[in-house]
This record gives sequence, C-alpha cells and structure tokens, in this order.
Amino acid sequence: MPILLKNCRIVVNEKVYSKNILIKNGKISKITNKEPKADKIIDVKNNLVLPGLIDAHVHMREPGLTHKEDFLTGSMAAAKGGITTFLDMPNTIPPTTTTAVLEEKRKLAKKSIVNYGFNFGATLNNISDIKKAKNVAAVKIYMDMTTGAMKVEDYDTIKEIFKASKLTIIHAEDINIKNAVDIFIKSFMSKAHVELKNQKFLSNKIKNRLHVAHVSSEKELRYAKNNPIKKQMTVEVTPHHLFMTEKDIQTLGAFAEMKPGLKTEQDKKALWQGIHDGMIDVIATDHAPHLKEEKEMANYPFGVPGLETMLPLLLDAFNSNKISLKKIMQLCCENPAKIFKIKNKGFLKEGYDADLVIADLDKRQAVRNDDLLTKCRWSPFEGKILKGWPVTTIVNGNVVYDNGEIKDIKAKEVQYAG
Ligand code: DOR
Ligand code: ZN
Repeated sequence: MPILLKNCRIVVNEKVYSKNILIKNGKISKITNKEPKADKIIDVKNNLVLPGLIDAHVHMREPGLTHKEDFLTGSMAAAKGGITTFLDMPNTIPPTTTTAVLEEKRKLAKKSIVNYGFNFGATLNNISDIKKAKNVAAVKIYMDMTTGAMKVEDYDTIKEIFKASKLTIIHAEDINIKNAVDIFIKSFMSKAHVELKNQKFLSNKIKNRLHVAHVSSEKELRYAKNNPIKKQMTVEVTPHHLFMTEKDIQTLGAFAEMKPGLKTEQDKKALWQGIHDGMIDVIATDHAPHLKEEKEMANYPFGVPGLETMLPLLLDAFNSNKISLKKIMQLCCENPAKIFKIKNKGFLKEGYDADLVIADLDKRQAVRNDDLLTKCRWSPFEGKILKGWPVTTIVNGNVVYDNGEIKDIKAKEVQYAG
C-alpha cells in the first residue's frame, strides 16, 4: 500500500527543500516535487522529515531485568523519541556472551516496534562464541565497572578480543581509554614496531576498528583521538554528558548518576567543541533505565533513561543555534549506519528503508515523567522546556508513533554489510 508524505521539509547539505516522499513496500520509493498516486496521503504540513535515528547504545534489559524495561516498552519509548533502530547492549541476565543467549534474545526482541540489532559481550573466556556469533553489530568490552559483572581486566584476553572482532566497542573511563588504545595497537604489531612512527605506518594496515562508548570529558576525548590509530577509532557521546554537568547531582542525586559520571562545565564545553570539530562521530543515548525505587536505595544502580529525550534535546539545541540539522543527521543517523555497517538505513534516499521521523521544530513542551513510555517513567530532564519535538515516527513504512499514539506493528532485526 503506497503512502505519500506530502509537504515534507528535508535537509540536504544544510539546505532545506520542500518535497513529497512516496513510500512503497517499506522503502523510500521517490523523493519528488510531483504527486505520485498513493493509497494513503499524510500531510506533513511542512514539518521536518529526518531519517529515523539509529541509537547505537541502548540497554533494553531483556532478558532478566524486565522490571526495568523490555523490548516492547523500550521500543515504544524509542518510537516516541524518533529512534527507528537501536543496538542493544549485552549486560542483561544472562548476558549476551554466548551464541545460545544471543539466539534467545533474538526471539525476545521480536516484540520490538522499531528495528534492532545486538552487541555481543566479551568475557575472559568466550572467544569461540565471539567468533561464532552471527549478525551482530560489534563486540563490547567493559574495562570499567558497569551494571552486571562484565568487567574484563586481563590485557592478553583483551588483545585476543580485539583481534577476533572487526569492531569492538569499549566501555573504558579516563586513563583506561588510553590503555585500550595502547592494547589495540599492540594487538596488531610485533614488539619490533612499538615506536611511534611505525605505529603510524601500521595503522594503515589494521582493518579492525575500535569504538569508544560515551566519552565524558576533555581528557577522555583526547585519549580517544590523539593517537596514531585515529582512522581506526570512532567516538560516541551521550546527551546527558552534553546537556548536564556534575552540578546536576546536587539537585537530582542518584537520578543524575551514571557510568561514566557527569563532569565539569569545561568538559561539557570540550565535548560540544568535539562535535563541531568532527572529533565526535556519534551521539547515542546509553538508555539505561532503572526504577525510581531502585534509584532511591542507598546502593542505587548507575544509569539514566534517554530514548525519549535525545532528539528533543538536540532539536532544542538546533533552535538555539548550538548544532545544525546536518550535524544531528550525521551523528544520529548517517555515522551509526556507516560505523556499524547497517544496511539500507541512516539516509533519506530513494531505495533506503522507510524509517523516518517527522519533527515539529516549533513545538514547545516540557519533558514530563507522566508522558514517558519507558517502563521506568522518569527522566533526568523532567521539567525542562524544549522547543522541537518528534511528532510522527515511521518504521519500515509503517506509522508506529503519531502524536502520542503508539501502533504496535512489529519491526525487524537489522542486517550488516560485511
Ligand atoms: O550508567 C551506566 N548504566 N553505565 C553502564 O555502563 C551500564 C548502564 C546500565 O546498564 O545500567
Ligand atoms: Zn551503556
């Protein structure tokens, strides 16, 4: 059933165009000035149409922690936030560290109403599973503390993982980012080549890549980017590190505590500078829901939800001239698709999947806990008035979110090139 989105505003190279978009068989069939025939017409009323966001860092909590979130509630929150694809993290119970658990998770994720992919977790002794795992986005290594016991500290094991995985995501903090980069280099070079000039030379030969999750400070950004293997490295930042500082802990307490933690105003500035300088490749939520009651305990868990607030925060930042729409599209749609080699997504182009978000740039509204669809139903941004909100989300050509209403149409697992 072809659908025509009429009166769309789309952004191509910083310029805004008015176009109609024809969707056929779940794909973008035409982007045109004409009015091709369709069974259904949606008047977009000159709102902005972006490729659906690809959130590369989401903790959906299923299996084992479904009191916090599950694939249905989490994907509803994603749809409301304009996110049409997410990559799930492995620190569930059991963790996604064997192929059997991965296959089980695949079945559970069929509930999702947005598209999804999986990151596979590394342990001290699961290299053979890492090698066998099919259709995963990346392998994740926790070099620092996280929810669940997933820390891998043995450098020789980490080297083996770097060698076995084409793309590794590291959760490393502070100096551990530098350590990770050093180990990565050493994984691919013999002792004879440790000097810097040879590292640069060898960097051209290394095919594997390293993605640094949630860089949170000026120092971490420097460790991630000032090194001889820049070409092999990509860097991610979260909305909470871009829009909050450690001062927020004074008012929000545990509700502003996550790993890595919030840093200073100066660090926040450095991250924004990194966005403008092209040092940062991806913005991802690190959606890490925990119940209010859990956050109120003395030994509260770390993490904050983010699926429903990332795009509004970024559109609000656009409205106050802090970021361009082109940058938002690069960091939230195009680069995640490229880095994780997700097929057919991330771009508003004919032939690509019809994963789209319609946003009203003039809509002004406060973040309200009561409006949230995440099972945890709170946000560290509660009360913040933002200008620019997603209003309609389309996944595989189906409207799954429209002005507060969710439609439960199941989505698909993504596929990767190579
Ligand atoms: O704050 C965090 N929460 N950091 C992590 O590394 C894990 C996450 C979670 O799963 O709760
Ligand atoms: Zn995380």
